[in-house]
Amino acid sequence: MEVLTKSAEETKKFGEKFAHQITGGSVLALVGNLGSGKTTFIQGLARGLGIKRAVISPTFILMREYESKVKIQSSKFKTLYHIDLYRLEEDVEREWIGLGIQDILGKNDTIVVIEWAEKVKELLPKNTIWVKFENVGGDNRKIVTTRNWLTSN
Ligand SMILES: Nc1ncnc2c1ncn2[C@@H]1O[C@H](COP(=O)(O)OP(=O)(O)OP(=O)(O)O)[C@@H](O)[C@H]1O
Ligand SMILES: [Mg+2]
Repeated sequence: MEVLTKSAEETKKFGEKFAHQITGGSVLALVGNLGSGKTTFIQGLARGLGIKRAVISPTFILMREYESKVKIQSSKFKTLYHIDLYRLEEDVEREWIGLGIQDILGKNDTIVVIEWAEKVKELLPKNTIWVKFENVGGDNRKIVTTRNWLTSN
């Protein structure tokens, strides 16, 4: 499905709504150019997952984790992992394994969201939710996901 947002706040709202459609064990793979809205979406997602701490771009760190005390969709969800692979150029697979991410993917107490996820496409689970971001001029962003929920509004 596809949505068009007209401001950063609208993208956050979309992320927040998305949070109510996923459960522990979900893996979200985000794709899109610099400044297309991936981190902004994750800020809304975190808000929707009951995370109070501000989500910032993990510039020098590849991965950040955020704990939540809120029960979502009666799942065992506890920890959001935010991974940004932008700076990873060489040995992507080795780095990925080094970070120990394979062990947290798909666990029912985690939600993992990955920016520049196309770099690890082959390493992600089959049921990964892909979300594509596109800057379509000014403050407009087109967001396309592989899941056809959130069709209303
Ligand atoms: N509709 C919109 N949705 C999201 N962000 C928007 C929108 N309109 C304007 N913006 C602005 O665009 C920028 C998006 O930055 P953001 O960090 O979310 O992008 P990103 O895809 O994570 O980039 P990077 O690949 O560098 O991590 C922000 O400055 C935000 O305020
Ligand atoms: Mg970002």
